[in-house]
Amino acid sequence: MVQNYTLCRLTNQEFDTLSGIIYEQFGIKMPLAKKTLLECRLQKRLRALELENFAQYIELLFSSGGLSQELFPMANVVTTNKTDFFRESAHFDFLKSLNWDSYFGGEAKGKMLKAWSAACSSGEEPYTLSMVLKETGEFDHQILATDLSQEVLQKAVTAIYSEERVRPVPLHYKQKYFLKNKDPKKPLLRVGPEIRKKVTFRQMNLMDSELDAGGKMDLIFCRNVLIYFDRPTQEKVIRKLCAHLKVGGYLFIGHSESISDFRLPLVQVKSTIYRKS
Ligand SMILES: C[S@@+](CC[C@H](N)C(=O)[O-])C[C@H]1O[C@@H](n2cnc3c(N)ncnc32)[C@H](O)[C@@H]1O
Repeated sequence: MVQNYTLCRLTNQEFDTLSGIIYEQFGIKMPLAKKTLLECRLQKRLRALELENFAQYIELLFSSGGLSQELFPMANVVTTNKTDFFRESAHFDFLKSLNWDSYFGGEAKGKMLKAWSAACSSGEEPYTLSMVLKETGEFDHQILATDLSQEVLQKAVTAIYSEERVRPVPLHYKQKYFLKNKDPKKPLLRVGPEIRKKVTFRQMNLMDSELDAGGKMDLIFCRNVLIYFDRPTQEKVIRKLCAHLKVGGYLFIGHSESISDFRLPLVQVKSTIYRKS
């Protein structure tokens, strides 16, 4: 059965209320120019909750327990989750070229490297990182991969991607680290267990005052998420992440992002790559 849905309109006042909640809870800035985008994205929630308009949705958010119940479903629809395997590959080339013996201050062999992909979306970033680290050195590694959206994390855990999504992965990595679906009608690939077991996924909001990453990290990837935040929020997030970075560890941000004016113990080593001093 084909169902017809009427598109609910968002008034400017409703937009102000909703964008205010999104900013407060997730740090995501929604200027008025994004009103139509927000309107489209939130339609899904109205339908799922069988609500007739945004006034009812706002009423639900302000009802007792309403916001906490709706927070994560809302995050699923308001976040932009664009990602790719080997996205911004200069970061991975940098890791391949590092002298790991000197990084570890002795033989790298047998050492454990801890990394964090702090807005990992559907998993392409942490899986790429794991494959590159596996190829790069004789040391072992563990990756914590976190995101606000539970929906993308569910996809990340399955580690199943279409052939199209896996296209940026170099052939020898594909042959070594991916499993092919046996059904030729479904061109899907799955990240193999050797890589999957290196990555632990967890839901985490970068706005939380304390980010529990379970210890200090050698590498932190925080790429293509700062662009959704305003400058003070970007600085707060980077400050919190920096506190989780080991001295000498590296922080990677997205190519259209900049943190150079933040007063933090970070030294830029390349464009968008920083080292904790
Ligand atoms: C555009 S994707 C970037 C993915 C990946 N880092 C990359 O560069 O390909 C941005 C991700 O940030 C996440 N995100 C947005 N706000 C967040 C927040 N407050 N806390 C944690 N993750 C957030 C989104 O859910 C989304 O998956």
